[in-house]
Amino acid sequence: MKNTLFRKINARDLLAKNKNVRLKQTLNAFDLIVLGVGAIVGTGIFILPGTVSALHAGPGIVFSFIIAAIVCAFAAMCYSEFASALPVTGSAYTYSYIVFGEIIAWLVGWALLLEYGLATAAVSTGWSAYLVSLLEGFGIHIPTALTAAYNPEAGTVVNLPAMVIVFAIAALLTLGIKESNRLNAIMVITKVGVILMFILIGAFYVEPTNWAPMLPFGVSGVLTGAALVFFAYLGFDAVSAAAEEVINPQRNMPIGIIGSLFFCTLLYVAVSLVLTGIVPYTNLNVSNPVSFAMQIAGQDWVAGFISLGAIVGMTTVILVMLYGGTRLLYAFGRDGLLPKSMAEIHKKFKTPVKNTWVLAMITAFCGGFIPLNQLTSLVNMGTLIAFTIVSIGVIALRRNKDIPSTGFKVPLYPIIPLVSFVLCIFLILQLEAITFIYCGVWFLIGIVFYFVYGKKHSKLNQ
Ligand code: ALA
Repeated sequence: MKNTLFRKINARDLLAKNKNVRLKQTLNAFDLIVLGVGAIVGTGIFILPGTVSALHAGPGIVFSFIIAAIVCAFAAMCYSEFASALPVTGSAYTYSYIVFGEIIAWLVGWALLLEYGLATAAVSTGWSAYLVSLLEGFGIHIPTALTAAYNPEAGTVVNLPAMVIVFAIAALLTLGIKESNRLNAIMVITKVGVILMFILIGAFYVEPTNWAPMLPFGVSGVLTGAALVFFAYLGFDAVSAAAEEVINPQRNMPIGIIGSLFFCTLLYVAVSLVLTGIVPYTNLNVSNPVSFAMQIAGQDWVAGFISLGAIVGMTTVILVMLYGGTRLLYAFGRDGLLPKSMAEIHKKFKTPVKNTWVLAMITAFCGGFIPLNQLTSLVNMGTLIAFTIVSIGVIALRRNKDIPSTGFKVPLYPIIPLVSFVLCIFLILQLEAITFIYCGVWFLIGIVFYFVYGKKHSKLNQ
């Protein structure tokens, strides 16, 4: 029994098989940084700095962003070592399959599905909210019933724009990653441009007195803030999901993952400094803090641009999250844990068209009918579970003699993987009890599915 549950994929076999690549290798380090920034900068920076600084951290939110970035950087280094040694699709799922065995891999993959699926759905609802308000600005009114998840009291039935954007992105992904990546690059330039515009123009309106007191809620407020703004960094791990499509992954994966994280940290720190410098933190409990600050500064036209940038920013997050999800399903299908059709590659487009539409339908359903704002903590939970396993997995990775050891290495081994592991557990423990309950139900479904289907159909049976 133990041997079946913990049977492993042989790294040498997998890497050798990958030589007859089925996915096209087209991405370089720059493409990966763009993909990373595309996945990372979205809802987080446009929404979280408002409520988190007003209610938890005050101007000290700058430190919250730095602490969250440090936690992510530790995990990012561990991800980079894996992605560099094992440039295979499926991210933490495939890594676990190689170093820990099938059942752990399945559970990690199941957690990742939670991250990618719910993050896509959550961001699509944020996208919809910004679109609706931008259209209102132009005098175009979408019937209220079609603008949010089912809620009889508010008179809403379905979030139609959220569903439409998910389907539109799915269509784009089926055309092929390089094409989607090009459009992604244009959108990334737009949203980074809007954020830089905010920083540069906003800097002139900063009143340093607004930064005092720096820590109105003390150090504990800053730490709570760090656990909340963690969401703003999610996405860099999606870069590792692209490993099979990367040219020279040993060099390019670490540059892509750590580079995109570093760039985003600079942006976030600058935005939060300027934001809390323009508006006293007590007034920041609004849903659109960044454009709100520009309105306060009397720069309404900049505020309009920022709304547009936020919509574009969220679009790229949906693109990369959905992409990560489809590659994960591809890996499940390839390994026999889900039906084979999940790993089918379209002859003409060379992309997994079927699994893209399956995932898009499920995600669009969640975005359209479930109010996901309370469920972002589930997204954090799924991600942190994967980070935890990847951190401790580096130790197992180094011990596995089948895996080539020429690529990127986590410095200060084993201290950094262990610190990363402890920090992730610490953040998981900050989540609410209800999140643990929802998560438990999700994993129960996953375990049942494994014993009913995956265990019997696993490729490792052959
Ligand atoms: N980091 C992503 C965002 O902030 C999930 O939208």
